[in-house]
Amino acid sequence: MRIGLIGTGRIGSFHAGVLARHPEVGSLVVADADPARAATVAAAVGAEAAPDVTALLGRARDAVAIASATAAHAELIARVARAGLPAFCEKPIALDVPGTLVALAAVAEAGTELQLGFMRRFDAGYRAAREAVRAGRLGRLHTVRTVTSDPEPPPAAYLPLSGGLFRDCMVHDVDIVRWVTGREVVEVYARGADAGPAMFREAGDVDTAAALLTLDDGTLVTATATRCNGAGYDVRMELAGDRDQLVVGLDERTPLTSLEPHSAAPPPKPWPGFLERFGPAYEAELDAFVRLVRGEAPNACDGREALAALRVADACERSRREGRPVRVDG
Ligand SMILES: NC(=O)c1ccc[n+]([C@@H]2O[C@H](COP(=O)([O-])OP(=O)(O)OC[C@H]3O[C@@H](n4cnc5c(N)ncnc54)[C@H](O)[C@@H]3O)[C@@H](O)[C@H]2O)c1
Repeated sequence: MRIGLIGTGRIGSFHAGVLARHPEVGSLVVADADPARAATVAAAVGAEAAPDVTALLGRARDAVAIASATAAHAELIARVARAGLPAFCEKPIALDVPGTLVALAAVAEAGTELQLGFMRRFDAGYRAAREAVRAGRLGRLHTVRTVTSDPEPPPAAYLPLSGGLFRDCMVHDVDIVRWVTGREVVEVYARGADAGPAMFREAGDVDTAAALLTLDDGTLVTATATRCNGAGYDVRMELAGDRDQLVVGLDERTPLTSLEPHSAAPPPKPWPGFLERFGPAYEAELDAFVRLVRGEAPNACDGREALAALRVADACERSRREGRPVRVDG
């Protein structure tokens, strides 16, 4: 199989390594708006560098993965679809619903596949949570709590292009809540705080946020996110029902120190970031994409999932700005 990869930045260079090592991927060709970056990554993983996206589309015979900056996703999805190739794309498809719908229409018209990069769906803990909820192990699920805490802010230049904390970061929590519970979010009430580094205020964004999400069966979800968690990378989900309570992401690497006298030791080796915490999940999602391309598996996360999560993130942003609960548009 000959696969193309567009975008060789933070996540793209990681995906390049995963794809280059995959036993079904015979050759990998990469491209980036910065050709020197593509050449460096290609040399590091044993891939071939194309000078630009047009050249890459001419060389990628079987499929294309997109890990460019967000602003280019929708157009690249449409180009890959028009080339008749299946695409994997990092989240999000676009920063707004109209842009997302245009890209999805191009995919539908071409009749190709589009898998989105919500990698938590491939994490062992979240998969076990979904199975436990579906098997009724918790009894009636009444409360879900999610945490997404980044150890430090992304580069300042990333913020104005990111879509903000809800669309860029908390969207992962929205997706995984939908996937684990099988329910839709019908209403949100979100607040944000920008007392951290000035770059957040300058970008009209917040560095920390909390949202109350109400699911269509009445289950309550509290979601928090921050870009400034000095203890380390912390991603968790707690699920509480009338029979049992479970947590994803709590182990000796969780950067959370208990103050109880019998267990007050700090975590020995907290997660430094998303690439370490979710490394196996990123590998599993690309393996699922390879199997999708080979016709061996259904699409594990198609574009409509990203559209649904974006609608919730949009509602959170609006709720934060207007200071009131907001219904989620269907
Ligand atoms: N799923 C996850 O956990 C996760 C984690 C990080 C980033 N992401 C997503 O991945 C994407 C990339 O994020 P990043 O942190 O790697 O950013 P980055 O800035 O490190 O890298 C982006 C790369 O895309 C290139 N690029 C920009 N426009 C391009 C175009 N039109 N054609 C080709 N290349 C282009 C840039 O030159 C750069 O090398 C973002 O959409 C982000 O939301 C997802």
